Amino acid sequence: MGVPRLDEMLGGGLPAGYSLLVAGPSGSGKTILATAFLTEGVRCGEPGIIVAFEQMPSQSWVRTLDDMVRAGQIGLINSRSPDLSIDEIVQQLCNLILKMKATRVVIDSLSGFELAVAPTFREDFRESLFRMFAVLAGLGVTVLMTSELEDRYIDLRFSPYGAAFLTDAIIVQRYIEVESCLQRVMAVVKVRASTHSNEIRRYEITADGIVIGDQVLNYEGILGGQPTLKKTTVKVKEGKP
Ligand SMILES: Nc1ncnc2c1ncn2[C@@H]1O[C@H](COP(=O)(O)OP(=O)(O)OP(=O)(O)O)[C@@H](O)[C@H]1O
Ligand SMILES: [Mg+2]
Repeated sequence: MGVPRLDEMLGGGLPAGYSLLVAGPSGSGKTILATAFLTEGVRCGEPGIIVAFEQMPSQSWVRTLDDMVRAGQIGLINSRSPDLSIDEIVQQLCNLILKMKATRVVIDSLSGFELAVAPTFREDFRESLFRMFAVLAGLGVTVLMTSELEDRYIDLRFSPYGAAFLTDAIIVQRYIEVESCLQRVMAVVKVRASTHSNEIRRYEITADGIVIGDQVLNYEGILGGQPTLKKTTVKVKEGKP
């Protein structure tokens, strides 16, 4: 994945040909994670393609992506013309995959994708996504797609498109409030047919990318957004403070 410790959390990395959904609120680091995945691919001699519908993130990351696109190591489909159907975008993508012999594909993000397709095609967006997954699976590429997660803490949703059950793996990112600070946590929710970590880990975003820390111990209610310190039972004898 190109993020230290993430392969370990996934139970040995993301198997080739799998699709991974990275769900998280805005600014949680989805695009940075996706960029790391593509950069690692380039390092291993696996060309990649990014289908971007988003504003690019911080400058340093734009430069990393830009450099790779310019060097021909990463293909870019940046579709902002609002009159395309999903199938046309998928066709463009397939042509580029074959041309570049790409093995890694990033779709950033599903919400941007929905906005980019013409309104007349939005009604059957889910069906089109389903077809796209089938086509990409047929080509054997490993796909990472991002999805915005609403900042709702009462339920654990991954994507409004029902894309979650179609993907082989899910990583969820969240903000939590600890001592009046926002911290980021990440967990692997599923990896089909694989044993993976079930820990909720803190992570930070630095100039070098995502740095995953340790498991969040001593707190409970993390997915509720406002963790509380676990109560420890200490026996105190009466009369002896
Ligand atoms: N050099 C850096 N040092 C520290 N934090 C950084 C750095 N670069 C980016 N960030 C953090 O990363 C965040 C952006 O990450 P990213 O663009 O990957 O988020 P995202 O999940 O893709 O958001 P969106 O859903 O809005 O596209 C910034 O809000 C900032 O907090
Ligand atoms: Mg993004």
